[in-house]
Amino acid sequence: MFKGQSALITGGSRGIGLAIAKKLANQGATITLLANNESVLKQSVKQLSSEYDQQHAILSVDLLHLVQENYNLSKLQDSFKSHSILVNCAGITTHTLLQRTTQKQITETINLNLTVPIILSQLCVKHMMRQRDQNPSILNIASVLSLTHHLLPGTSVYAASKAGLLGFTKSLAHELKGRVRVNALLPALVKDTEMGKIVKGDLAEVSMDVVVNKAVEVLSELSVNGECITLD
Ligand SMILES: NC(=O)c1ccc[n+]([C@@H]2O[C@H](COP(=O)([O-])OP(=O)(O)OC[C@H]3O[C@@H](n4cnc5c(N)ncnc54)[C@H](OP(=O)(O)O)[C@@H]3O)[C@@H](O)[C@H]2O)c1
Repeated sequence: MFKGQSALITGGSRGIGLAIAKKLANQGATITLLANNESVLKQSVKQLSSEYDQQHAILSVDLLHLVQENYNLSKLQDSFKSHSILVNCAGITTHTLLQRTTQKQITETINLNLTVPIILSQLCVKHMMRQRDQNPSILNIASVLSLTHHLLPGTSVYAASKAGLLGFTKSLAHELKGRVRVNALLPALVKDTEMGKIVKGDLAEVSMDVVVNKAVEVLSELSVNGECITLD
């Protein structure tokens, strides 16, 4: 289904990002996995199917560096040229009550979960617009915690970052209508990931399979644009 398409997946070394990458590779996509830890990335890329002779790649970048004023974004430009799919999946949470959250934790959570997807989308979009025959698409992985009817103490900064991501998704989808599709998934708790293990409290759950299948459906379905889809 994705034969001939190339997908950049942030947070692709493990968890939800890697699971989406595996499914897209099974369906013919060529994958670039982006994360910080290079040795984990090297192991993760070996898990992707190359049944369609794809040459998968890894990109080891600390995404938090992208928000620094003196970071030379042009270094990344070449790596971003060929992708018709961007999955913004890298994310962090500290799960800490606000009064115990440090300023560094606040800044990093907002930067990684919101500012970085905005910067990466900006880097990819101009190349995507030249590949309209490839059904170019951005998928942002938000969270049910960005919705006001899913509340959990210790997640206010995370919720704020993901709510911002929803606003960005809706507005950019409108801006790029007919050229690049932009959507978001809002999964409930996915227990079997590193992040899933640190979240404590009463929160609806969803299986990894449901998240992955919906991601693939949204990326392949030409009519879906500007949707923020709750998975609980
Ligand atoms: N798990 C859940 O219950 C759940 C529910 C709803 C939404 N989500 C969202 O889904 C996404 C994936 O979650 P997950 O549970 O799969 O998380 P995870 O297992 O903790 O994986 C996080 C990924 O992000 C990467 N990452 C973190 N900081 C980075 C940085 N500074 N630079 C580059 N890469 C970085 C990690 O790579 P390195 O280790 O190399 O840094 C890893 O690949 C997140 O956006 C999360 O908010 C998760």
